[in-house]
Amino acid sequence: MPNPRALPKTYAVKSFGCQMNVYDGERMAELLSHQGMTAAADGEAAELIVLNTCHIRERAAEKVYSDIGRILKTARAAGEPKPLIAVAGCVAQAEGAEIVARAKAVDIVVGPQAYHRLPSLVADAAAGRTALDTDMPAASKFGALPARRKVAPSAFLTVQEGCDKFCTYCVVPYTRGAEVSRPWGDLVAEAQALVEAGAKEITLLGQNVNAWTGEDAAGRVGGLDGLIRVLDRIEGLERIRYTTSHPNDMTQALIDAHGDVGKLMPFLHLPVQAGSDRILKAMNRSHTADSYLRIIERVRAVRPDIALSGDFIVGFPGETEADFQATLDLVGEIGHAQAFSFKYSPRPGTPAATMADQVPPQEADERLQRLQALLNAQQHAFNNATLGRRTRILIERHGKLPGQMLGKSPWLQSVHLQTDAAIGTLLDVDIVATGPNSVSGAALVSA
Ligand code: SAH
Ligand code: SF4
Ligand code: F3S
Repeated sequence: MPNPRALPKTYAVKSFGCQMNVYDGERMAELLSHQGMTAAADGEAAELIVLNTCHIRERAAEKVYSDIGRILKTARAAGEPKPLIAVAGCVAQAEGAEIVARAKAVDIVVGPQAYHRLPSLVADAAAGRTALDTDMPAASKFGALPARRKVAPSAFLTVQEGCDKFCTYCVVPYTRGAEVSRPWGDLVAEAQALVEAGAKEITLLGQNVNAWTGEDAAGRVGGLDGLIRVLDRIEGLERIRYTTSHPNDMTQALIDAHGDVGKLMPFLHLPVQAGSDRILKAMNRSHTADSYLRIIERVRAVRPDIALSGDFIVGFPGETEADFQATLDLVGEIGHAQAFSFKYSPRPGTPAATMADQVPPQEADERLQRLQALLNAQQHAFNNATLGRRTRILIERHGKLPGQMLGKSPWLQSVHLQTDAAIGTLLDVDIVATGPNSVSGAALVSA
């Protein structure tokens, strides 16, 4: 442990991994600002650096240690004292005290359920005391966080955390703990605060967001569809999205919401992982390729233009060429607007890591390329099908070119266009050109 030092005045939070980590990163930044610290400007040295880490894929921990090395080198080169370094997020939860043992430069280790205690951990570290907290307290951290103040037009709201599914390849149930839903009233209040702080769109987040349940003011228990219907009534909120869902929690009530809730965007991210039932079973996914397709059918029945997205893993232990072909066949039947695909990576402590028949990396690489070629072609086809359509986009940021703005279509396509409309504007546009990853729009009327 280093010698006592003054409390830091500036901070930087760097988030990796999923959107829930991005949300946590925002909340940590708000908390530090609330304590009187200032966010360091881009490229400026901060006195406290929070690395909000992800543990989902191989070498995640290695990446953290090399980031720490880079931070130290930059400080040395600039002749500045070493900043306080905090490791947060899922690597912090998984590795705990090992991090400090391996990287002496780390002052604070704080898990995803304990970051509301960051200010006291910072004080401990500055006083030269060990600052390690990877508890998963029964009381939620959310009540201890400051209110939302200023947010982007498209904001995140974590409604559910953790996972009880235990897919055999995945670390999330260990790093994020059991499934917990935040209470209904808290979420409505936070959504309202987000809208007052500038949000036009809210994406509800959870490791299994569609497993959310809660009791409304009248004591009625409802699912995510009920929460969405309540949020739909918030004035000034224009768009609602949610991610990530599990096929087993895709209730008919939630599917129906896609048919009749005006603000719910026509987009569904529903990971399937693989197309072979044998592999799905070994993954402990507890759905089949066919039951997944039936869900998609029901969603399309109420919302024919829904844009579909998914996650895929290739090269899971025991995956044969025939199994992989089943994944390609399934993808062929669905038609994706976008998707994420990964090469299986063994995660220590998960059942799949010790399964026989690990697929040779070259074979998995080759399969990944074939799958990605198909998914990319589907994304391009989806974009092409929107050519000539008139649609509404939410302007989110400036583009690289002068006068260029970037926004999102209802189907979550990136849209770029020339306009003087401000960030946060909802604008009617015609889609005039399409590419593999984005589309271009021409503005019509400012709303
Ligand atoms: N809760 C979500 C997403 C969890 S993590 C779900 O169940 O779908 C995001 C994605 O990372 C997963 O959907 C999976 O495709 C991928 N992933 C998780 N563990 C992995 C591993 N060990 N190797 C490769 N990809 C993995
Ligand atoms: Fe991981 Fe499976 Fe849980 Fe998703 S559902 S977080 S892939 S264990
Ligand atoms: Fe990564 Fe943790 Fe999210 S492992 S994907 S940051 S839940």
